[in-house]
Amino acid sequence: MANWKSHKTITQSLDFLTAFQPSGADLKNTQVVLFPPFLALASMVQRTRVTGSLIQLGAQNLSAHNEGAHTGEIAAAMLKDVGLSHVLIGHSERRKDQNENGPLLAQKMARALEHGLTPVLCIGEQLEERQNHRTDAILRQQLEDALKPLDLSPSDSFVVAYEPVWAIGTGLIPSMEQLRDTAHSIRGILARVLAHSSANQRGQEQRWAERVPLLYGGSVKRGNAAEIMSLTEFQGLLIGGASLDPVHLQDILHAIATERAT
Ligand code: PGA
Repeated sequence: MANWKSHKTITQSLDFLTAFQPSGADLKNTQVVLFPPFLALASMVQRTRVTGSLIQLGAQNLSAHNEGAHTGEIAAAMLKDVGLSHVLIGHSERRKDQNENGPLLAQKMARALEHGLTPVLCIGEQLEERQNHRTDAILRQQLEDALKPLDLSPSDSFVVAYEPVWAIGTGLIPSMEQLRDTAHSIRGILARVLAHSSANQRGQEQRWAERVPLLYGGSVKRGNAAEIMSLTEFQGLLIGGASLDPVHLQDILHAIATERAT
């Protein structure tokens, strides 16, 4: 999944689609979802429909409300109507810059699920929190805040993206051991949270938690994508900076496909 953040005009976004030509083999078992800025979404959906592209599109944010008197907000129904499949929720940049907090993120999760969009819930700790051995506590809090208020069922499709804040845009990534350990912690927390959020699924939560796709994000590049994807704990990647260049993203897809084939 590719988070373009606040990059690319409509023209630049369409140029990316023209240049981005991953091979059929690299796309065979890999879902590609691009998250461009809002203004480019409609044109990009149009273009992918015309060309029959398998690429899916998502939004980087959505309103916590349904349509109504909320100036400047973009509601889930509008995103669904334009033809999107996914939406990012709780990216650390929004948690910090827009003060997005747990109750707000739970509302956003609810709006996305109600409208058939797959939310990608982003969680992650700050460097200081990791150094103080608080990673699990932070991730638990973030998952509980966003998911516990919801009445989830196993048919609700959502994705969790683990993005340590200190790894985003810094060139640093956790060690493979840290990634493996953190992924196991997330699955355990998820199982406990899911047990709370759906009364009629007691006993099933472990298997349910195992089925939630877990992505890694933070300084993913073509040089480290294969190694991260060699960890069976993660089902995909959330890529920022490196996804802006069509050739880099193609190389990452190729690295993933090659790793999966071994
Ligand atoms: P990065 O960003 O790949 O540039 O580190 C990842 C993200 O913020 O989703």
